[in-house]
Amino acid sequence: MKGIILAGGKATRLRPLTLITSKQLLPVYNKPMIFYPLFTLLRAGIREILIIISPEYAGHFMRLLGSGKQFNAKFTYEIQEYPRGLADAFIIGEDFIDNGNVAMILGDNIFADDLSQDIKNFIKGGMVFAKYVNDPERYGVVDFDANGRALSIEEKPKNPKSNYCVTGLYVYDQQVIEIAKNLKPSARGELEITDINNFYLQKGQLEVKVIKNNWFDAGTFDSLLKASNWVAENQSLWEEFQS
Ligand code: TTP
Repeated sequence: MKGIILAGGKATRLRPLTLITSKQLLPVYNKPMIFYPLFTLLRAGIREILIIISPEYAGHFMRLLGSGKQFNAKFTYEIQEYPRGLADAFIIGEDFIDNGNVAMILGDNIFADDLSQDIKNFIKGGMVFAKYVNDPERYGVVDFDANGRALSIEEKPKNPKSNYCVTGLYVYDQQVIEIAKNLKPSARGELEITDINNFYLQKGQLEVKVIKNNWFDAGTFDSLLKASNWVAENQSLWEEFQS
């Protein structure tokens, strides 16, 4: 399994902080934000990681993360010239993914759960992780039947059918490259990961796992502050990565 961290984007909701640096380099308590999604991949034994960044701050990421040696991993970098959407990661990452499976994580997502076993047990199709939230309309929303099987996923619906949102860790087989290449931009002009998930769902190949512990999308002032406080209080979760 290879890994991708998607750490481009414009981060307009964190301006003015992000006028001079990238969101994923901002501190979450005592570490740059991108360390947390990196730890999630490393914990799952993923050692080959592609980091997708925007051109403005590419040098900063390379200076911070380097070749990956200090993490016992191998990092590759690609530039996303323009934020074309989350699904663009699989077009940019085509050569990197090659014929294997891939776990893509967003550079601003922080997971308390150890998802290693799920990632290691993945064989084919797609797998996403859903979390109960109070503001599902901000995310892709997944709706389940009485047996807990996913029925539909809607991107930022005005009237969400459930409180379960799709979090920013996606595991796919190599089909994802062709699926992403065939996507049409949505009304907001982005290649939507929700369209990829619906493609797998319609083929009966999408597994949706519900996560129980805390999860943060640290892309707003409030969520960034909450994530920092929570990380400060839960340092033991990251103990294996302290050096
Ligand atoms: P978002 O939070 O949806 O977008 P953003 O980071 O540009 O922020 P804002 O909405 O405040 O303008 O992105 C989620 C994550 O995905 C984040 O880590 C940035 C990354 N991303 C890319 O790398 N490329 C893209 O094309 C998009 C849309 C997001």
